[in-house]
Amino acid sequence: MVDRRRFLASLAAPALLARRSSAAADAARPRERLPFNDGWRFFKGEAEGAERPEFRDSAWREVRLPHDWAIEGPFDPHISPHAGALPAFGTGWYRKAFTLPESARGRYFTIEFDGAMCNSRVWLNGQDLGGRPYGYIGFTVDLTPHLQFGRRNVLAVRLTPEERSSRWYPGAGIYRHVWLEETGPLSVDHWGTYVTTPEVTAGRATIRVMTRVQNRAGREVRARLQSTITDSEGKPAGRNSGEAMIPANGAQIISSELTVTSPQRWDIDRPYLYTLASEVFEGDGMADRYLTPFGIRTIAFDQDRGFLLNERHVKLQGVCNHHDLGALGTAVNRRATERQLQILKEAGVNAIRTSHNPPSPELLELCDQMGMLVMDEAFDMWRIPKMVNGYSKYFADWSERDLRDMLRRDRNHPSIILWSIGNEVLEQGKADGWQEAKRLVEFVRQEDPTRPTTSAFNNPDAAITNQLAAQVDVPGINYHPWLYEQIQKEHPNWVICGSETASCVSSRGVYHLPLVKYEKHASLEISSYDIITASWAYPPDVEFSFQEKLPSVLGEFVWTGFDYLGEPTPYFGYQPGSDNSHDWPARSSYFGMVDLAGFPKDRYYFYQSVWSKKPMVHMLPHWNWEGREGQNIPVVCYSNGDEVEVFLNGNSLGRKKRFSEPVEIPVGAVVTPEKKFNSKYRLMWQVPYQAGTLEAVAYRDGQPIARHEARTAGAPARVKLIPDRSAIQADGDDLSFVTVRIEDQHGVLCPMADNLVRFQVKGPGEIAGVDNGNPATVEPFHADYRKAFSGLALLIIRSRGGQAGKIDLTATADGLTAGKTTISVRS
Ligand code: GAL
Repeated sequence: MVDRRRFLASLAAPALLARRSSAAADAARPRERLPFNDGWRFFKGEAEGAERPEFRDSAWREVRLPHDWAIEGPFDPHISPHAGALPAFGTGWYRKAFTLPESARGRYFTIEFDGAMCNSRVWLNGQDLGGRPYGYIGFTVDLTPHLQFGRRNVLAVRLTPEERSSRWYPGAGIYRHVWLEETGPLSVDHWGTYVTTPEVTAGRATIRVMTRVQNRAGREVRARLQSTITDSEGKPAGRNSGEAMIPANGAQIISSELTVTSPQRWDIDRPYLYTLASEVFEGDGMADRYLTPFGIRTIAFDQDRGFLLNERHVKLQGVCNHHDLGALGTAVNRRATERQLQILKEAGVNAIRTSHNPPSPELLELCDQMGMLVMDEAFDMWRIPKMVNGYSKYFADWSERDLRDMLRRDRNHPSIILWSIGNEVLEQGKADGWQEAKRLVEFVRQEDPTRPTTSAFNNPDAAITNQLAAQVDVPGINYHPWLYEQIQKEHPNWVICGSETASCVSSRGVYHLPLVKYEKHASLEISSYDIITASWAYPPDVEFSFQEKLPSVLGEFVWTGFDYLGEPTPYFGYQPGSDNSHDWPARSSYFGMVDLAGFPKDRYYFYQSVWSKKPMVHMLPHWNWEGREGQNIPVVCYSNGDEVEVFLNGNSLGRKKRFSEPVEIPVGAVVTPEKKFNSKYRLMWQVPYQAGTLEAVAYRDGQPIARHEARTAGAPARVKLIPDRSAIQADGDDLSFVTVRIEDQHGVLCPMADNLVRFQVKGPGEIAGVDNGNPATVEPFHADYRKAFSGLALLIIRSRGGQAGKIDLTATADGLTAGKTTISVRS
């Protein structure tokens, strides 16, 4: 893993290099790695000759990477809603001009793309440097042979994403970071270190390092590699050095073993990281210095005990997530990714499945730093297509390279515990489907034998019959928890996992009565009582009960943590020949326990009540049922207390003991063999409606531990702005996520409010996006206005590079008192 410390000198790549132009070309000088994201020009469409340096691009738009051209919209009913109804296809060009000083001659320059969506082709000064079909994998191009020193160079990138290539919104553009790397002829290779910890005890850990040193000089070189481990405070914790002859224009792996005494373990509650510095010397001169953060931890997968992290049983409380960041589209942003993880952690989530593709490097860095386990997944399809223009087109030529690259890129991350070679691949149903799995598993074992392989099967019977499941170490079972026990009995040596579970759907803050199971609703919203699911799926409680019964099943990965763009199930279901235009404009998923804007839905608290120990109680629905006075409203509580009591206007409606009175979920909501389900995980009261205050109090051992209050709101009176952070960095990337609340005159959230809110931004910031979490609206994400949805909207503010000061935000809505807040921006 390479050093990805943030360089503030973002625009400075050429300038920085130019500044030390007086220094003579110095072969023995450590590498430089700089962001290469500023100063690009972008054109959407075909541009004949744009690869040539003399091409005039002055009329093209200036963009800063990462950039997702499709998120700007517009939403279009003719584009598949499964891909978000957004234009993530067509041709797009990016160009960037830069200069390197004469003094840099003799050095080696590489561009690293963390990912470009997709079918990229890259040129430098008109010379074709190749590209990559798969948009989710990082790749490098070597600039060196075609660079002109002391003169203008032009890098051009052409992307041609195709329609009907993905079952979800893939985004389009250079949507991840780009880096310029400069090395001497003798250096650590790209993704050139592999750190494992074969022995870990309380007293010591053995750190095994394989370092690939490359020599681009035309002569053999005697290289000395010095490996130094530092702890999280930068104090030395281990050192070793070795020597090797590196052949001319060749590479050599140098193996070394280091010892760390009294090692600090990486764990989910204490994600302790060490750093390995690999320094390459020729004689006394340091030719390269390459940093690899890593962790010391043990993992084991046991038939009886399930997953063991540092010898301790940890049930996987995981979620599947797609890669978009809501209103920001797929353009990678560290803070937006960190916020997602923070929100999920708060619910007790301890694992992420990167469905169904290699994630951004930032996601993995954050999981390392925040203590989140990861199932890193390579593919959604193999040879047999799920979409006409999907990855199957490239699988034969690229799958080995893409998979090996994912493993080499990611294998030093302590957070990763499982490698997934594919999701619900259609080879499950093919007699020789196992052969493909065998081939892919072999690559994984060659690149990283320290972690098990997995694959997710939605048709476990078929995958077991055709021997595909037997190829992987941990067969993943999608949506069939009632088969776990039988599979374990029939295959006592297997360790299995609920690789995809639940697929319960809802729109935040929306409640439909009476409480019945239905497929679709005329409003295009879905009730939040957490009983509606995809037809192949089931509510969370079903999985809870099977997981509880079978501790040796590793755990589950819920579909999904966050809502994502595309796949608006149950709307636009796959119904060949039928007209489902009445489902427009449903355009994003309802699956998340958190909505697209990052606001938790009720289901989030349902998971929290089972997964988290932090005292909590959550009650639904809201308490605004004008016109239903005296009628029974089902009131549901999720809590990790042992009893909950509900009060209406101060009068107790009785205490209920958790797990004692199973709640019947409307028949048909669940696809279990019995087709019905009684949940012991919910507590329910039938409460005759009367305006006022409904309160839930949770108790543990008779003592109150948590409360949740729902008050009947009056008419909308004011807008309130609540930034998640009121101080951000002036780096042009950092974000403040501002919650916009429509409140009555007493500050109570108006749960049905949909007022149109307009935003004014003054000072060194700009609007990066707006949203409200409604999956069925085609309002743009890039705008200075947004309607509230169930009383809430979101305003995302981004700092401007190098500009400190104060951002003043004002939010106005007709007839309401305006909301104001300030965000300070620090350099
Ligand atoms: C699964 C699939 C996911 C998503 C989900 C929706 O079968 O693996 O990608 O489509 O269904 O329920």
